[in-house]
Amino acid sequence: MARSSSDIVVVGAGIVGCAIAFELARRGASVRLVDQRATGMGATRASAGILAPHIEAATDATLLDLTVRSLGLFDDFIADVVADSGVPVPYRRTGTLQVALNEDELGELRHAAARLKAAGVAASLLDAQAARAEEPHLSEAALGALVVPTHGFTAAGDLTRALSTAACRRGTRLTEGSAVHRIGPKHGDLVVETDHGSLTGDAVVLAAGAWSGQIEIVGVPARVPVRPVRGQLLRLAWHGPAVRRVTWHGRGYLVPWDDGTLLVGATVEEAGFEEGTTVAGVRDLLEAACALVPHASMAGFAGAYVGLRPASADELPIIGASRLLPNLMYATGHYRNGILLAPLTAELVADALLNGRIDPALAAIGPQRFGDL
Ligand code: GLY
Repeated sequence: MARSSSDIVVVGAGIVGCAIAFELARRGASVRLVDQRATGMGATRASAGILAPHIEAATDATLLDLTVRSLGLFDDFIADVVADSGVPVPYRRTGTLQVALNEDELGELRHAAARLKAAGVAASLLDAQAARAEEPHLSEAALGALVVPTHGFTAAGDLTRALSTAACRRGTRLTEGSAVHRIGPKHGDLVVETDHGSLTGDAVVLAAGAWSGQIEIVGVPARVPVRPVRGQLLRLAWHGPAVRRVTWHGRGYLVPWDDGTLLVGATVEEAGFEEGTTVAGVRDLLEAACALVPHASMAGFAGAYVGLRPASADELPIIGASRLLPNLMYATGHYRNGILLAPLTAELVADALLNGRIDPALAAIGPQRFGDL
């Protein structure tokens, strides 16, 4: 399916939709980008932007391959979007410090260290004393920690704004505040019906995150199976010398920004489409932060945020063409790794739509694993 000048409509202006729009536009495609909200106001707005495949994808070989590959694209991805948009994007490869607070967790870190060594991935397992030397704020209760130096983080909101700005500079027409209700075929094209009129494209990319399954696709009876998984995220105003790295524990993680902001994430909650913060969520995150770095109790409280992560049943993304409507591409279900997987998703989708190149990686993450989509 090689195409050039006709419109491609990207539904969803979160990190994934914006990355796809930018990639398509810079390869010369004519792009329409539409979202029911403002750019980056779905899951992206409560993302801590952690780039840590060897923590977040360690237990699934397919997800690990995808996330490692995407992390390898990140330096160029950030450089290109900053150059094209003129929008600065905080991006640090500080490494991660994954902390054990009990013997079981220390055992898990030992296994992880052995696995990484066998795979040739740089990592160091630290005892309690070395862990506190590495991170002086770390709790006295820490028994050890694993450092993976290639990991890092980016500011998800800034990156999403930069991507949409860069896409628009390359001619993308962005429509915010316009909900998409239905997508259907017409004379070989696809018509995207929004509450402010219709958009017609010769291809459509469905990148609406947790809301992807709410859009009716005429000719595809089954809805794409993604469910919302709520994540609450806190923003603290840190005082004094900063935490040095992304600091990770099973109960919560910390991301230190250069401006003194400390992000604390994140809850993982089955709460449907309910997008409120809760006392329990905020309490749990504050407790987790203080258990990791007790000095967090002296920080200012600067806000709490909520996002709905789009999860598929196997927690892998859903990327690939519809069998029933081949000019419809799904790019959704990125669950906990939307930021990390954005560069690779954009590349896979643009290769498929513009060059007819179906990357072998798509075989494991296509929509048809969930039925006739
Ligand atoms: N990627 C971190 C989270 O989803 O909480």
